[in-house]
Amino acid sequence: MNITVIGAGYVGLVQAVGLAEAGHVVRCVDVNVERVECLRRAEVPFFEIGLAEKLEANSAAGRLRFFSSLEDASRDFESVCVFVCVQTPSREDGSCDLSAVEAVMKEIGRVGLDCLVVVKSTVPPGLEEEMCGWLGTGGRLAANPEFLREGRAMEDFFAPDRIVIGVSSSRDEQVLRDVYAFLDVPIFVMSIASAQLTKYSANTMLAMRLSLMNELACIADVVGADIQDVERGIGSDTRIGSPFLRAGAGFGGSCFPKDVQALARVASTHGVESLLIQPIIEANIRQGMYFVEKADRLLGGISGKTIAVWGMAFNKNTDDVRESPAVRISQELLSRGAKLRVFDPEAMENAKKEIVSADVVWCDSKEVALEGVDALFVLTEWDEFLTADWERVAGAISGGLIFDGKNCLPRADVARAGFRVHGMGLWNA
Ligand code: NAD
Ligand code: UGA
Repeated sequence: MNITVIGAGYVGLVQAVGLAEAGHVVRCVDVNVERVECLRRAEVPFFEIGLAEKLEANSAAGRLRFFSSLEDASRDFESVCVFVCVQTPSREDGSCDLSAVEAVMKEIGRVGLDCLVVVKSTVPPGLEEEMCGWLGTGGRLAANPEFLREGRAMEDFFAPDRIVIGVSSSRDEQVLRDVYAFLDVPIFVMSIASAQLTKYSANTMLAMRLSLMNELACIADVVGADIQDVERGIGSDTRIGSPFLRAGAGFGGSCFPKDVQALARVASTHGVESLLIQPIIEANIRQGMYFVEKADRLLGGISGKTIAVWGMAFNKNTDDVRESPAVRISQELLSRGAKLRVFDPEAMENAKKEIVSADVVWCDSKEVALEGVDALFVLTEWDEFLTADWERVAGAISGGLIFDGKNCLPRADVARAGFRVHGMGLWNA
């Protein structure tokens, strides 16, 4: 099938490359000319495992081409559908900024594409009529929210738990069934509003689960319990399940915070009093501060201390630092008078744009970051941090402390090197 994808970011590029890999012929459009040039050279403009090889192979096979204008992409190319994958960030008041989606829809209308317009961007439910208005007469709208995780995006594309599609006719349903015919997974068909609410509900449910686990970790800290035992204890209850229970110093990423806030705004706009949704984010911010407070106490004050920070990305296997707790925590350490020695395997360049301070030394390796420090903070769960040579780390920071903001370190290995791991709710007998 001929398919157009608009937006070559984390979602759009994965969608474009994934659909091409599945055998479709894909044209991908992005207004960022530099990004398009980079993609034409088969270079991925960000870090996502497994994407580069497939981008190169499918570009070489002629199934994938990049354009900086929809008009050019649509010349001699009739798409059965166009996927809208542009950003939907938060406005200052927490509501969803739809300006990029609006611009794309109007452009689709202007170019006169006569095909199904599938919104993959996360957008608030209840705006179907307005969006159809942006497309102009004859525009057909569908929703196909995305559930991929950064750092595992290709894996999630080819093995999602499910596909959710929101459509208003069986004809549109069939188009999307045909697009995804290569996947052997359940497809849930519903109204456009239900599909959009499903997306917000999934992110809010996951974020609420994490904020609850983080709060339980704070309780574990004061009652002398171990949150990792609690995780095992409740995760084995099939009604609860074990994924997504790991507590830490707060979650991050471009979507949980913005989507939870946007859903809270949807509720208030429609006069629904929400008691649960808004506090999820407040709890998340507080969690990072709680972690720094704890470190401050254990270090006898942060001011004047030199601290190694391992990890800037919000998740392992990505270079994305949007809403990263590592950035938030580092900024708090700096504001309390610390000097930082920072290393991340992939996210250094993005982090440098967020943290501009003469008190930060950007290091070439995790070992270099350890030189002359009083403490080590591990803030992203990269595999190379988990498998560090703990004897060597112990030698480098002798007398220092290790803080684990992701509760991810192998505590037994670290203990063998003579150190305790200070995480969130970790009981060190
Ligand atoms: P992104 O910022 O990485 O990418 C958006 C891309 O769209 C950019 O390259 C930008 O240049 C391009 N763009 C903007 N306006 C355009 C226009 N008029 N024409 C063509 N291109 C245009 O964003 P993202 O992280 O890929 O997220 C996209 C959407 O998917 C958001 O709604 C987000 O909430 C949702 N989502 C993201 C993830 C994720 O893990 N990042 C997962 C699920 C859903
Ligand atoms: C999340 C959702 O998991 C995706 O389904 C969704 O598509 C995406 O948001 C989105 O809408 O953008 P993502 O933010 O990319 O994906 O990454 P996750 O793996 O969900 O991690 C988010 C944050 O939660 C990270 O900071 C991670 O460290 C943290 N986390 C995750 C925990 O603190 N504990 C856990 O047990 C799991």
